[in-house]
Amino acid sequence: MKHLISPLDLSVEELDHILCLGQDIMKNPEKYSHVCEGKKLATLFYEPSTRTRLSFEAAMLNLGGKVLGFSSADSSSAAKGESVADTIRVISSYADICAMRHPKEGAPTVAAMHSEIPVINAGDGGHNHPTQTLTDLITIKTLMGRLDNMTVGMCGDLKFGRTVHSLINAMVRYPNVRFILISPTELMIPDYLRKEVLDANNIEYIETNDLEKFMPELDILYMTRVQKERFFNEEDYIRLKDSFILDAAKMEYAKKDMYVLHPLPRVNEIATEVDNDPRAVYFKQAKFGVYVRMALIMNLLGLD
Ligand code: CP
Repeated sequence: MKHLISPLDLSVEELDHILCLGQDIMKNPEKYSHVCEGKKLATLFYEPSTRTRLSFEAAMLNLGGKVLGFSSADSSSAAKGESVADTIRVISSYADICAMRHPKEGAPTVAAMHSEIPVINAGDGGHNHPTQTLTDLITIKTLMGRLDNMTVGMCGDLKFGRTVHSLINAMVRYPNVRFILISPTELMIPDYLRKEVLDANNIEYIETNDLEKFMPELDILYMTRVQKERFFNEEDYIRLKDSFILDAAKMEYAKKDMYVLHPLPRVNEIATEVDNDPRAVYFKQAKFGVYVRMALIMNLLGLD
């Protein structure tokens, strides 16, 4: 039985297989509309979500399966003090696969240890969000035709932004990917990522707080929101929340074939005037997330 807790749980070959399957689903969705008949997906969301939970549910429904679950800790027996370990033991007899989001880092790992069904990490605290990474990768691969030989700018909250951590972990495995890490000093990437992932793999990267300066070099600009829910005091959040705002004027510095991605939700960090720029692909990205989650569900259930 396989789980997906970190992007590194998938080899590059497995990752490429899931992305190719997702692209085939994108082209021929009807071919896959009965693949999961008789199967159930449980969505166990202890933290708010729009895209991840609903795209997982859409993915299972598109595959002909059924869905059940809860969308907040308060509406589950976690509110009465039930542990993740006990919850997953019970859910294992109600569903064939589950996607779990939890504010505590490592909660999906604990779930996987006690589960009889595949567990998918749908975001754990400030740690990882591997299915957002699959979404980001299928978007880049579909639009650019490759995942190697590119300069990726990541801008905003690189400290708490789990999507950034997962995407860096995944992309360092492709040749000649260079990173420009754009953030306020307080929101730079965690030290473990710098030492154990970037330095350990001899990856070229620059850390800066100057978006305009590096804009002309970027093939991808991955914007992120400042993660209000991870701050210990509101003053710091208010001071840092509008550190970077991408607008039409800044887009003038970018290559004509650069793409702007964002895991969403957006708050202020991308002005709505950018939405009509053909290089702004974040809503397309959210749509691609359904196809790649369909591919992942099939893969973990052994139906591919
Ligand atoms: N990108 C993402 O994880 O969005 P949600 O928080 O809405 O699921």
